[in-house]
Amino acid sequence: MTDPQLVLTERVQQALAAAFGTEYADADPLIRPSQFADYQANVAMSLSKRLRRAPREVAQEIADHLTGGAEGERFPGTVEVSGPGFLNLTLSDDWIAAQASEILADPRHGVAPSASPQIVVIDYSAPNAAKEMHVGHLRTTIVGDALARVHEHLGNKVIRQNHLGDWGTPFGMLIEHLLDIGEETAVAQLEAGEGNAYYQAARAKFDSDPEFNKRARTRVVTLQSEEPETMRLWHIFMDATVRYFNKVYAQLGVTLTDDDIAGESMYNSMLAQVCDDLQERGIAVVSEGALCVFPPGYTGREGQPLPFMIRKSDGGYGYATTDMATIRYRVQDLKADRIIYVIGVTQAMHMSMLFDSARIAGWLPDHVRAEHVQIGSVLGSDGKMFKTRSGASIKLLELLDEAETRAAAAIQDREYGEAERTEIAHAVGMGAVKYADLSVSHDSEYVFDFDRMLALTGNTGPYLQYAQARIRSIFRRGGVDPSETTGPIVLGHPAERALALQLLGFGAAVEEMAEGSMPHKLAAYLFDTASAFTTFFENCPVLKDDVDPATRASRLALCALTLDVLKTGLDLLGVPVPERM
Ligand code: ARG
Repeated sequence: MTDPQLVLTERVQQALAAAFGTEYADADPLIRPSQFADYQANVAMSLSKRLRRAPREVAQEIADHLTGGAEGERFPGTVEVSGPGFLNLTLSDDWIAAQASEILADPRHGVAPSASPQIVVIDYSAPNAAKEMHVGHLRTTIVGDALARVHEHLGNKVIRQNHLGDWGTPFGMLIEHLLDIGEETAVAQLEAGEGNAYYQAARAKFDSDPEFNKRARTRVVTLQSEEPETMRLWHIFMDATVRYFNKVYAQLGVTLTDDDIAGESMYNSMLAQVCDDLQERGIAVVSEGALCVFPPGYTGREGQPLPFMIRKSDGGYGYATTDMATIRYRVQDLKADRIIYVIGVTQAMHMSMLFDSARIAGWLPDHVRAEHVQIGSVLGSDGKMFKTRSGASIKLLELLDEAETRAAAAIQDREYGEAERTEIAHAVGMGAVKYADLSVSHDSEYVFDFDRMLALTGNTGPYLQYAQARIRSIFRRGGVDPSETTGPIVLGHPAERALALQLLGFGAAVEEMAEGSMPHKLAAYLFDTASAFTTFFENCPVLKDDVDPATRASRLALCALTLDVLKTGLDLLGVPVPERM
């Protein structure tokens, strides 16, 4: 364990137990970064009431226990009581340097593998085949993929589940439209991402042409019964659609593959049994002709209990039915310890009712953690849902291409060859778009703005990519291989110390992201790290002739560790790390 805040928490808790008895061993020491020391612990104030003693006296007693005791147990630095009873904690340079050297040598850079690896099912991306993949799906895809990467890095077994909207009544008309325009035309259109136009054409006929309407309805019936010829047509439709999704995934560098597809269609054969089982056990009841679960705590305007409807009054199944089958499958068949649903915030109520209903049904036992990672909307500069000028929804591939074109324009004056220029533009363009999704808290809205996300300053993807590329160039110029840099790290200048202290927090930042499903926490940590590096680099020359060999070796080691942390961290977020920029 290298994270200073965690180390200090443990030490202060040991001191509390020694001073006041073991019942105080897990009191929260309330440790925060401080402007007067590295950290401040405020626990003495909160304990003084419980102990009926003056806070300063309590603080002094904790301080004595922290600084006394045997070598190795003692607090590695200085402790000072100040004000009404604050404990100011300052770590010694030697301790920080030793820890930094340790994580430089550690291939995991302070990220401890999970002590008890879990099976983590992550439901993300999940575009709908009948409609075009929109920018909201881009965000669930990017956030979900970052969570998948981070859990895998921690040694958990990640099962990605792309819950495609690939089933239901619209497929009747979609399949009939395919027959009308011919397989080849349909496939070409779908592969090109023209799903919206395709859907609208089918819909128009469905609304205006009675003969088509009748065919479409009949087709829904043969689809429900999985009749072979209908399934063949459905597969043609889906395969072409998935080929388009895969183009988007490939351009984004998202880790989803065809093996991760577990769409709504997969659960079709389980739905009747799901309903029967819930009805037989009295967990679902018929209300106004529909089969519903009434999880407690959900009421409408007039106080009436709200239904979680698993079978409509016309006998049809819906989104809720599929999700009940899905959650049962994930627990019973996939053996999930934790299920993470990365889905729009607008579905909060559905998710909450789903989890409650599944708990009541016994399909989501207490030991399985289920969470809805709520994804906020992406807005246009007008503050409304992000659309093109004409009001049409935006084609994702075109949007991603535009990011790359703009990134290419920004590096136009550099001396790169054609191939490298394209590669950098791709990395920067995708890094910018992805980081914009990851750096804000996942449930907040944000405005999609190319200029802001591509900026080289501020908390952006390109800023972080540039920071790591700049460190690589230091090693190139110095003719040194960063992986052969071993220090030792010696801290002289305050900027060296601040950078080293910051680097020690990498493991905790990764853990915090995984525990809370919050990529923006890791993003913020990486941004702070890059900023600490910038200050270090402005104040502490590395390669200049008048830098003595020991200082040079130490600074190169700090550069190498910063590079490792930035590269690993960006990779966990799914942001590409170009060699040069
Ligand atoms: N296809 C849905 C949508 O686009 C998201 C599905 C999310 N996953 C789930 N298990 N409900 O809104």
